Amino acid sequence: MFVCEVLTLFPGVIDVYTEESILGRAQSAGLARIYGLNIRDFAEDRHRITDDQPYGGGGGMVMKAEPIYRAVEHLREDGLPRRILFPSPQGRRFDQGFAEELVADNRRLVIICGRYEGVDERVVAGLVDDEVSLGDYVLTGGELAALAIIDACVRLLPGALGDERSSCIDSFSWDGLLDYPHYTRPAVFKGMSVPEILLSGNHAEIQRWRRKEALRRTLIRRPDLLKAAVLDKEDQKLITEIKKEEGNEQDHRPRGRI
Ligand code: 6GU
Repeated sequence: MFVCEVLTLFPGVIDVYTEESILGRAQSAGLARIYGLNIRDFAEDRHRITDDQPYGGGGGMVMKAEPIYRAVEHLREDGLPRRILFPSPQGRRFDQGFAEELVADNRRLVIICGRYEGVDERVVAGLVDDEVSLGDYVLTGGELAALAIIDACVRLLPGALGDERSSCIDSFSWDGLLDYPHYTRPAVFKGMSVPEILLSGNHAEIQRWRRKEALRRTLIRRPDLLKAAVLDKEDQKLITEIKKEEGNEQDHRPRGRI
């Protein structure tokens, strides 16, 4: 079972999100268990203070190390192995490979969510196994990052996405390409038609079209991903077709919706 304990000043945020949809069902099915734990409950002073002014001055407040250490020591009383993550823009970039690594790890996950200007560096130095970043921008707190990490992990658990989808795909892992476009009824909406091939019932042709459109989007939007993806001979053929088509493009309006 995938178990994650989130240390935060806002455990309600974690609980509300993880009780719904895929995460909620994965928990009900016994595949995952997510706990939101309040760091304030581990502050031992009368006012349960969790932050203080920074040494060296300057604006803002810094989260104290002691309540976080006490929370982790409390969790560790059961003796189970844990991997402790700290979301921050200073960390290793989170990606699909990192999510797969976390799911394959048998340890429980602990995610320490910072707020305010930062967390006392001795938390990172003495507790944290991995400092993890979602990307090059700054969030107000670690909670959104924690939820993103949990979501990416739980959907990789066999059975988490439900029978319909897991029976269709033999691999739960991402093939490294962007997704192809999806359509549902009606066949024409506001003058925009569903590509005819999808209405043909020819499954081999539909599969080929979807692969080609996935390759096309990746080539145009994220050529960096295409370099890392595993491509076979048929893919190479499709790419040659796409390049010819894109090169022959008569109008040069921005095509954001490919
Ligand atoms: Cl993981 N945490 C915070 N607080 N901000 C971020 C981030 C993480 N990744 C990008 N910005």
